[in-house]
Amino acid sequence: MSLTPSAYTLLGLTALVAALAALLTFALLRFFAAAHDTRRDLRGSGSETTLLSAALQEAVTKLRAQERATAARAEASERLSGEIISSLTAGLLVVGLHGEIRILNPAGRRMLNLPEADSPETFHRSPRAQPLLDVVDECLAQQSAIVRRAVVLPEAGPGVTHLGVTVSPLSDQHGQLHGAICLFTDLTAVKDLEEQLRLKESLATVGELTAGIAHEFRNGLATIQGYSKLVDLNALPASYRPYVEGIRSETESLSQVVTNFLNFARPAQLTLTPVDLGAICERAAEEIRPDARALGGDVEVHGEFGLLEGDEVLLRQAFSNLLRNALEACVGGTAPPQIAIQSEVDAALKLSRIAVNDNGPGIPPALRERVFRPFFTSKRNGTGLGLALVQKIIVFHNGRIQVGVSPAGGASLQLTLPVSAGHARDGREPGSEFHTRHPAKNPAS
Ligand SMILES: Nc1ncnc2c1ncn2[C@@H]1O[C@H](COP(=O)(O)OP(=O)(O)OP(=O)(O)O)[C@@H](O)[C@H]1O
Ligand SMILES: [Mg+2]
Repeated sequence: MSLTPSAYTLLGLTALVAALAALLTFALLRFFAAAHDTRRDLRGSGSETTLLSAALQEAVTKLRAQERATAARAEASERLSGEIISSLTAGLLVVGLHGEIRILNPAGRRMLNLPEADSPETFHRSPRAQPLLDVVDECLAQQSAIVRRAVVLPEAGPGVTHLGVTVSPLSDQHGQLHGAICLFTDLTAVKDLEEQLRLKESLATVGELTAGIAHEFRNGLATIQGYSKLVDLNALPASYRPYVEGIRSETESLSQVVTNFLNFARPAQLTLTPVDLGAICERAAEEIRPDARALGGDVEVHGEFGLLEGDEVLLRQAFSNLLRNALEACVGGTAPPQIAIQSEVDAALKLSRIAVNDNGPGIPPALRERVFRPFFTSKRNGTGLGLALVQKIIVFHNGRIQVGVSPAGGASLQLTLPVSAGHARDGREPGSEFHTRHPAKNPAS
C-alpha cells in the first residue's frame, strides 16, 4: 500500500507530537522524582537539627542542675561548718598572718569575756585576748604547732582564768603559710581542783608535822602557867610582882596561840549536815553587829544564799573570823565601819558566791596571797591564824577564797562554795530574807 504525501506528513507530525509528549512526560517524571528527593532530604536534615537542639537543651538543663546541686552542697557545707564552729564547746580562733581575726566562735568569746558583736580592734585591745595572741605569734614565728600550752588570763571578775591552748600553722595547697588556727579549752575548774588538792595536802602535812609539837608545847605552857599561879603575889616583894604577872599574861596569850594553831592544824573532820549559808551569815553578823554599832557603823547581809552539806560550826567560825577581821580593819579609820556580806547563787554552776566587804584600808595586792599563810599578821595581838583557818574550812568544803577590793575601796574577801541549786530560802525574792537594814547609826537608838 502506498501512502499519499499528506498521509506521510500527518504520520510524521503524529510521531513528532508523540516524541514531544514522551519527552515532556520524562521531564515531568524527573522533576517529580527530584522534588521527592529534595523533600525527603529536607525532612531528614530537619530531624537532625531538632535532635541537636534537644541534646543541647538537655546538656544545659543538666549543667544547671549540677550548678544548683554544687551551690546547695556549698551552702550546706558552709552551714554545717558554721554550726560546728558555733556549737563547739572549745574556743576557736583563726588568725591571718597580719593578726587579722578571721574566726572567733561564741565559746571563745565567752571564755575571753568579749561581747558577741565585737570588732577585731576591741579583740586586739582586750588584755584577756593578749596571752592567746602571744601563743599565736609564737606559732607563726616558729611555723610549727604549739600543743596544750597552759595560759593564764588576767582576771576580770568571776570566770575563766586558765586556758589550755593548741595552735597550728595554716598553709594553702602550695604550702604557703597564711595564718594560724587556735583551739582553746577552759581549764579553770581543773586548776581550782588542783589548787584545792594541793592546799588540802599541804594543810594535812602541816597538821601532821606540827600538831604533835604544839601539844608538847601546850603541856609545857600549862605547867609554867600552873606554877606561876601557885606563886602568892601578896607574899612577894612588890618589885617581883610585875615579873610574875608578866609570866602569867605571856603564858596565857601563848597558850591561846597554841590553841588556835591546834584548831588550824588539826586534821579536818567535817560533821556534815544540811547547812543554810544565809542563816550562818546572819548569825555571824549578829555576833559582831553590836561592836560595829558601838562604833557608829553596821553589819548588813544581802542577797541570795544557797544550801550545802557542810560543817555548820566550822562555817560559822569562818564567817565570824572574816567579819572580825573586817571590823578590826575599820577600827581607827575615819569612817564608821560599814561591813556587808553580799551573796549570789549561780544556779547553772551550782555555786554560791559570797563577799565580805568592808570600808577599811583594804589589803594591798602584794599581800593578797600572803594573808592566808599561818602566822601572817599585821596586828600587835594577832596570831595570824584567822584567815589560814578560814581558807582551810572553805577548801575542805570544796570552795575557794580570794582577796579583792570592795565597792567602798576596802577589802573584799570573796568565797565560792558549791551548793545545791534552787534553794532560795522560803521561795522569797533573792535578798529579801537576809537583807537586814539597820538605819541606826547611833548605837543608842
Ligand atoms: N578585812 C581586812 N582588811 C584589811 N586587812 C585584813 C583584813 N583581813 C585580814 N587582813 C590582814 O590579814 C592579816 C591576817 O589576818 P588573820 O585573820 O589571818 O590574822 P589576824 O587577824 O592578824 O590575827 P587573828 O585572826 O589570829 O587574831 C591581818 O593581820 C591583816 O593584816
Ligand atoms: Mg583575824
